[in-house]
Amino acid sequence: MKFFVDTADLNEIKDLAATGLLDGVTTNPSLVAKSGHSNFIELIREIASVVEGPVSAEVAATDFEGMLAEARTLTKIAKNIAIKVPLTPAGLKVCKILSGEGTQVNVTLCFSPAQAILAAKAGAAFVSPFVGRLDDIGQDGMGLISSICEIYGNYPAFKTEVLVASVRSPMHVVLAAQMGADVATIPPSVIRQLFKHPLTDSGLAQFVEDWKKTGQTIPRGSQP
Ligand code: G3P
Repeated sequence: MKFFVDTADLNEIKDLAATGLLDGVTTNPSLVAKSGHSNFIELIREIASVVEGPVSAEVAATDFEGMLAEARTLTKIAKNIAIKVPLTPAGLKVCKILSGEGTQVNVTLCFSPAQAILAAKAGAAFVSPFVGRLDDIGQDGMGLISSICEIYGNYPAFKTEVLVASVRSPMHVVLAAQMGADVATIPPSVIRQLFKHPLTDSGLAQFVEDWKKTGQTIPRGSQP
């Protein structure tokens, strides 16, 4: 399972990339606004230089011509740019064209299995179902992931990866992995939560304490 970080905060991205566990980045207009960065193109260029994997950059236009023109600019920023388009008829039209040219497209704002089928038919590299936002309105976010994984599994010709988005907790990530989702895009705070368990902390404290009692040190960087 691949881990993307869902943020446009460059410091967070650098910090998490250093763990070696990051496979890509997703951004959206809200995250860019939150970052306070005033030059979107430069921000995406910097992010794309920090991670090797796909960096999703979302178009701002909503009409076909506007989205396509913006996408053509964004693809030129770096080799690892994935163009993010909304799941609308115009967005899928753009997706079909870009995918045919070999550009990775992330179709975002997916809230139903029917929409996910359309994204796959349009050749999307990724479909982004928003689990947290479905949970927020009393629907079953992870149920949507299960349905999409099942449907895509029925059609080997569908190459679209299921990118679980709007992740709010480690349980979303664990359930997504159990369902066989390809990718989870995770906020930095939730990535950090994944590492944590109180028994890891107390167990490590005990090991450190007991090791002191041995009075020994392990030589560093030399032959034992
Ligand atoms: O990047 C898209 C998605 O992950 C947004 O999540 O928390 O705004 O619903 P959220």
